[in-house]
This record gives sequence, structure tokens and C-alpha cells, in this order.
Amino acid sequence: EAFDVMVVGSCMTDLVSQAPRLPKAGETIHGHKFFIGFGGKGANQCIQAARLGAKATMVCKVGKDFFGDNYIQNFKDNAVHTGFAGQTSDAATGAASIIVNDAGENAIVIVAGANMLLGREELQDARPALSRAKVLVCQLEISPQSSLQALRMARENNVKTIFNPAPAIADLDPDFYRFSDVFCCNETEAELLTGAAVADAEDAHRAGQELMRRGCGSVIITLGPQGCVVLKAQELSSQHIPASPATVVDTTGAGDSFIGALAFYIAYYPTMPLEEMARRANQVAAVSVQAAGTQTSYPYKKDLPAELF
Ligand code: RIB
Ligand code: NA
Repeated sequence: EAFDVMVVGSCMTDLVSQAPRLPKAGETIHGHKFFIGFGGKGANQCIQAARLGAKATMVCKVGKDFFGDNYIQNFKDNAVHTGFAGQTSDAATGAASIIVNDAGENAIVIVAGANMLLGREELQDARPALSRAKVLVCQLEISPQSSLQALRMARENNVKTIFNPAPAIADLDPDFYRFSDVFCCNETEAELLTGAAVADAEDAHRAGQELMRRGCGSVIITLGPQGCVVLKAQELSSQHIPASPATVVDTTGAGDSFIGALAFYIAYYPTMPLEEMARRANQVAAVSVQAAGTQTSYPYKKDLPAELF
């Protein structure tokens, strides 16, 4: 069986509280709503790709616990292949405590748990499928060495790679840049990686050039309501792709919706210019910010305008 999009990455149970604002240290405040959802950057990206119609598989590790069982079922419900979704009794399913304020902004603490036990062995099992995939997507919510190994395997097999350095770490192994066909991050991650402030498209262009110098095939820096900036190898200039205005309810996981959509376009529209893929992925992600939660807010193909396909 062949899968076009493979995500090697994280699963988290999202424990979400909506409150008027984010609390300060030592402070208790009243929130108005609590819910539990399926999250984790890797799984979010995989689910979004699948909802657009991608034949997708997830290489991940969850706990042998209630949350883990539910997570595997969630993949099945979304038509994501689960043959490489492992369960361990040595750690609990990853969890993310999320607070969302009235502006739709968030603060998140993740406890990666079982995600950190995804390693060499699981990647070896997935190797044959990986070598036949069209796109591999990785992030940084599992052990960085596992992400790097997956990217290396993809490179060896001419599989296109999307790397999302999230959550960002300042001293990223330089191989991450070299193994990224598309290096896709948001403004805060770009800031952390380059050491320079990224507030607008012009800053993002400069940060993108620095990331390109480190060896990325292309770079996309997402800027929330300001859209994104795309840099490609053969071109000196970058393209700013503005986003269409959206009524923001909850921006959590919008970046993951964007990356999942990007993976879908790279897999199924390989000759489409990267700027056009980014423009369409922006539109998909814009739908996700208009509803609460991460995966719960991700659109299906049937909910989207036909011109996106
Ligand atoms: O990118 C959003 C995700 O980050 C959430 O789903 C949460 O699980 C955290 O990992
Ligand atoms: Na959302």
C-alpha cells in the first residue's frame, strides 16, 4: 500500500480553556469554556492533508491509555492510515494545556510524553512506505534526532520534505536546513532561529534569506493575518502572499492547517508554483481560525471553494 503524504510527528490531547485573557504568573482567573480535542502539530498537519483528500499516513507514538486509544480512533475516523501509529505503556499520551484569550491568541504548555519515545525502530518499520511517499512532513514535538533521521531518509529517497521547526529551538542542528525542501515556520520561530525581529513581510524576507543561506531549498514564513512570505532557491526576491481577512475565533493550529494543506498541494499538484500553493494553503488555514479548537476547525474538501482544487 502506498501513501502520498507521510507525517512523522506528534499527537497531543489538547486541553483547552477559553478565558478573557491569558493569566499572569501566580494568578487565577475565570474562563468561560473548557473542551478536550485532538491536537499535536504532527497529527494536525496530517489530518488537514487527509481532509483535503490526501492519502496520508502518520508515524507517531501515543500511550497505551484512554487518550491514546481515542487518538488512534481519531486517525481512523479521518481516513489516516494507522499502521505506523504505535502505542507504548512506558509513557502517557502527549498533552497540551492551552489557554485561548478573547482575541483568539493562545499560550500552550506541551508535555510530549510518548511522543519522545518515537525513535529509530519505528522509523525503520516505516522506511519502505517513506521511500515511496511523495511528501514527508516533520516538526519538533518529537525527539529532534528522530525528525532529522526521517528527513535524511526522505532525502536519500528523493521524497520531498517539509520541515516545520515548531516549537522552535535556538540551536537547531544545521542538517535540518539542508534536509528541508520547504522550511516553513511562523514569525516567532523565524525570530528565534535568526535572532532578528520579524514583524512584517520585509523582516520576513530578510529572515528568509538567512534561512536560505543555511541550506533550505525554499522558505515560507507565515505571518498570521499578514499572510506569508515565500522564498525560492533560484530567485533573489521573495513573494509576499497576503491573507484574506477572517473573523478570528481561535488561531490555535492555523499554522498546522497551512502546512497540512501545503503537503497536499505538493503531493498532488507537483508542478504548481510554491507561491500559488501558499496562497491556497492560506485560504484553507483562514477557515480554521474561524472556529474553536485545532482539528475540529479544519475544513474538508467539500467545505472549500472548488477553485482550490
Ligand atoms: O500547533 C497547535 C498545536 O500545538 C496544538 O494542537 C497543541 O497540541 C500543540 O502541540
Ligand atoms: Na481554529
